[in-house]
Amino acid sequence: MKVLGIESSCDETGAAVVLDAQKILSSVVASQVALHSRYGGVVPEIASRKHVEAILPVIEEALSRSGNRLQDIQTIAVTQGPGLVGSLLVGIAVAKSLAFVLQVPWVGVNHILSHIAAAFLSSPSLKFPLIALVVSGGHTSLFRVESHTRMILIGQTKDDAAGEAFDKVAKFMGLGYPGGEVIDRLAKEGNRRAILFPRSLLDPLSLDFSFSGLKTAVLQHVKSLGGKLSLDQIREIAASFQEAVVDILVTKVMRAAKQEAIREVVVVGGVACNSRLREKFTQDGSSSGITVFFPPPALCTDNAAMVAAAGFHHLMAGHHSNLLLNAYSRFGRSSG
Ligand code: KG4
Ligand code: ZN
Repeated sequence: MKVLGIESSCDETGAAVVLDAQKILSSVVASQVALHSRYGGVVPEIASRKHVEAILPVIEEALSRSGNRLQDIQTIAVTQGPGLVGSLLVGIAVAKSLAFVLQVPWVGVNHILSHIAAAFLSSPSLKFPLIALVVSGGHTSLFRVESHTRMILIGQTKDDAAGEAFDKVAKFMGLGYPGGEVIDRLAKEGNRRAILFPRSLLDPLSLDFSFSGLKTAVLQHVKSLGGKLSLDQIREIAASFQEAVVDILVTKVMRAAKQEAIREVVVVGGVACNSRLREKFTQDGSSSGITVFFPPPALCTDNAAMVAAAGFHHLMAGHHSNLLLNAYSRFGRSSG
């Protein structure tokens, strides 16, 4: 079945054509990052307007790269939430219109759960149950994944998302937006043991996360240095901060795997691109007999192929949406 996926939850407009949640025929992403970077973060009103401009050309490009015409599309999946409501509504309005015109079934999917679908798209041999860590600019959540449509939330951040902490620390050091990639790059040249930043692990059994104390500690450290930071100081702070985030994420995931008696883990979302996170998960996983999978970077950051894959599984499970569907801004359900 040829699925058209549409993604517009934040600052990336995506469209993809995917065959049976297995083969990506095309995946196109138009990023607005350059536009928002001058404001140091995503400006919702600008994001919505840009989605309106980009969405039809992006869909046309996805169709043409896949070698299909609109009439070849058999079903449509669109991100329903969580995300910026004004942005989500653009994708939803287009999905509703196309489904109505083509008279095909369609479904609204949860953005966080779509990130998990990206793992199955890149590693089809994964078996249930598994633990999924979704770690991005908007979310840091842990799931026990029992099937393609049943995912149970077992932990989440109580304050900032991990990617948000990367972005805020980078902004504070004048490194621009978004900050994850640049911190990752600078950290490669810095000593990760130079500064011992706090690792909030909450209580001993908790699977929840907290990054605001760490973020504040980094900001205070930067302030205490006063004036302009040298490149060496920036590298040291980047490496030490990144190490603290990685330690927290790895500790919680290993704790979840132990508590749930599960030996397979997937790590998805934009922060899953982080090179030190990949390295530490692979090392600690192999010493504790836990296999950790990461999708390739293009499937970790926001894209519509994951939306198409998630939508396919929901449609196979008999879920459909109708024209009354609305966007939602926050994660309020454990599965679609
Ligand atoms: O999944 P995503 O594209 O969008 C959301 O749903 O949030 O994730 C974007 C986030 C940003 O916070 C960005 O700084 C972070 O992912 N990110 C990284 C890296 N690449 C992107 N964080 C750490 N290291 C990276 N290499
Ligand atoms: Zn995302």
